[in-house]
Amino acid sequence: MDAVLVLLLIFVLILLIMAVFLVLTLGIRIRTMALYGGAPYVASTHSSINNALALANLSASDRFADLGCGDGQVVLAAAKRDVAEAVGFEIDPLLAREASKKTAGYTNAKIIRTSFWEADLTRFDVVYLFQIPYAMPRLEKKLMSELKPTARVVSNGFKFPNWKPTASQGTISLYTRAEIPKTTDAA
Ligand SMILES: C[S@@+](CC[C@H](N)C(=O)[O-])C[C@H]1O[C@@H](n2cnc3c(N)ncnc32)[C@H](O)[C@@H]1O
Repeated sequence: MDAVLVLLLIFVLILLIMAVFLVLTLGIRIRTMALYGGAPYVASTHSSINNALALANLSASDRFADLGCGDGQVVLAAAKRDVAEAVGFEIDPLLAREASKKTAGYTNAKIIRTSFWEADLTRFDVVYLFQIPYAMPRLEKKLMSELKPTARVVSNGFKFPNWKPTASQGTISLYTRAEIPKTTDAA
């Protein structure tokens, strides 16, 4: 009977240690992403990726970027649609490595392990992002100051504070650089 009790206690202790480890790693990850000014990793669903790429109306000459590309699934989907260039920016080294592996067979795909805040976005025609509410005002400013007038932005889940979407489908909103309000343009 005593032995059963000891085994039970050990089992409960192991469960507790595992739970603490899980909470700590998840908490550290969320705090780290907050430090980098972006969202923690959550994968876009297949339907949101399809909606985003359809709304963006990709063409063969488009240069595509995913800001915070996670495991690279959106970059891969864009690369498979034969865009000129599909680039993923990712701060998390493990995710960046996974994304590089996932897109390795595609010469038009590239994963860059860096903060998207440091990235030069001037050459991109289409930008995809699945970020977090606190990042949206700063992202709006960056995109407004760097993107060319013909560029399109597809945001999963979250909207920009000033910029009005030109279309939406499911969780995806499409923005066109040409539609930026004049008041915020000057900001
Ligand atoms: C919600 S996930 C989206 C992943 C992927 N784009 C998708 O839709 O499946 C957000 C991603 O942004 C990354 N991230 C957060 N802040 C970042 C930053 N400053 N620079 C680059 N990546 C960042 C996170 O590591 C995470 O992989």
